[in-house]
Parts: sequence; C-alpha cells; structure tokens
Amino acid sequence: MTDTEIDAATLARLSAAWPERATIRSHMNSLKPPQEYDPLLPDYPVKFLPFAEHPDFVDAPFEKRQAVLTHAWLMYNARVITAEEQIANPTFAKIVHGVFPGSERFEIKQAVQQAHVDETWHTYMHMMAMHHTQEARELRSEPDYPHAVTYRHLAAEQEKVSDRWHRDLLALVWTTVTEVSVNAYLELLSRDQTIQPMHALVPRLHARDEAAHGSVMVEVAKQLYVHMGPHQQKIFEQALPKAVMAFVAQDYRAWPLILEHAGIKKATDIVEDCKRGGSSSLLVRDFSGVERLAREMEIEMESPYDQTKK
Ligand SMILES: [Fe+2]
Ligand SMILES: [Fe+2]
Repeated sequence: MTDTEIDAATLARLSAAWPERATIRSHMNSLKPPQEYDPLLPDYPVKFLPFAEHPDFVDAPFEKRQAVLTHAWLMYNARVITAEEQIANPTFAKIVHGVFPGSERFEIKQAVQQAHVDETWHTYMHMMAMHHTQEARELRSEPDYPHAVTYRHLAAEQEKVSDRWHRDLLALVWTTVTEVSVNAYLELLSRDQTIQPMHALVPRLHARDEAAHGSVMVEVAKQLYVHMGPHQQKIFEQALPKAVMAFVAQDYRAWPLILEHAGIKKATDIVEDCKRGGSSSLLVRDFSGVERLAREMEIEMESPYDQTKK
C-alpha cells in the first residue's frame, strides 16, 4: 500500500461536499422539543435490551419496564457523546496537530477538522435529545452511570502502557473503529418505528454525517498506517479487534444500575443470566465497517466473533 494520489482525491471530494452535506448546516432547526409526546411510546426499542425476554423483566410492571427503556435511551445517547468527546475528538485534534506522522497533507487536516466540527454538533444533538426526554418524562434522578463501556476498555488498555505515543496510537485505533462502526450503532434506532419519532430522527441525522466520516477515516488510517514503523503497525493490528469488541459490547456494568433504579427486582441476577449468553448478547452485530477497513488497509484481522470466544 502506498501514499497514493487516489487517497487524497477521495478526501478532497468528501471535503468539497461538506458544506452541503453537514447536518449542522441543514438540520439545525430539527431539534426542537417534540410538539406532542405520547408517553405510551417507548423511548428505546425493547428488543435491544439484553434481558428483553428474561422472565423477571417480562413479568415486571409496565411502568417499570418503560422506565428501563427511558434510561436505556439516555445511556445510548451518553455512549455516543462519550465516543465523540473522549475518543474521536481528542484524536482528531492530535491528527490535525501533527502528532501522528503522515498527517501533514492538507487533505487530511481539512477532512478531519470538518469531522471534528460535525462531532461537536453531534454531541449537541444527543445532549438536546436527552434533555427533551428528561423534561418530557419529568425525571428527577438518574443512575450514577460509569463511563461508557467503549471508553472504559480504551482507558484499561492505555493504563497497561507507559509511553505517550503508545496511548495515542491506541486512541487512534479506537477512533478508527468508532468512525467506521458508529453507523451500525446509530442504525439500531434510526429506522425504528416503535419508539418516539425524535429518538429515531437524531440517530438518522447523525448517521448521515458518519457515512462520510467512515470513508474519511479509512483514508486517514491508511495514510497514517503506512507512515508507522513495523512495531507500531503490529500494535495497530492487534488493538483493532479489541477496539471492535469494546464498541459492540453491551454495558453490563450499567444495566444492573438501570434495572435497580427502575425498581425491577433481581436486577443483578437478570444481568448475570444475560452475560452467559455470549456473542448473542452483543449490542451491535454489524462488523461490515471494520471488515472493509481491514480489507482496504490490507491487514489481517481476526474475526471479532472469535474474540468473544476467548
Ligand atoms: Fe458523530
Ligand atoms: Fe464521526
């Protein structure tokens, strides 16, 4: 793989389309509070709860199950915001500031800075969506969530190493995986017709921007990868499936807190039963983004499914 002009042309094409494409430009007025909020409509699709069919959850009163869905929706948004603020944006700033060799080309800086602007807007969209829900449901308290699972895994990997460049490289891998995979996460809700319409709209708008970010990040990762030494390239390759699993995992530290907060009995038991479900309990099962990435980067990556068996 070489530092080709084709890569730069792809980035330049995506950057040229940004002023028309960016949802911050086209949809700034789409985030008003919903005129009507039907409290009977769930906030989050019940089928994505890892314990959706667990008898102790199914038998719980309707109001408590609805409360779980409200907090599941809030956690869904909080996870997006963490990915933007703790993973993607710090890495985008490093790329633009030249921390990684190979990021000197203007086409890279321009496309990444545009993505950075988009992400800040996405944080705002999800923040407003959470606020509308909190108002509509008259929430007075929320569970004391841990940091989102995707970020916890990155922080745990970074703690194992002492060199700054190594921690930055791990963050680059997590950002790459996030950018090529986030649409699979957003599409869980973006076409759902059983939930509050606003809760499908926000992920749908977000996904429009991310379709471009995925293509940008593939090109950026390719450019940075060819400028790495063999040791760094190996670290990149080995971290890739770990980042994928961090991205698709259910957050088993948060679920018991949500169940307890909603007043569901046997919260810990319910979640422990689900954890034994293995790969079938992954939140995201669409790995096509990262598979494309590995193919375009011409690197071998273990199947993320294999990671779940270890
Ligand atoms: Fe985003
Ligand atoms: Fe993005």
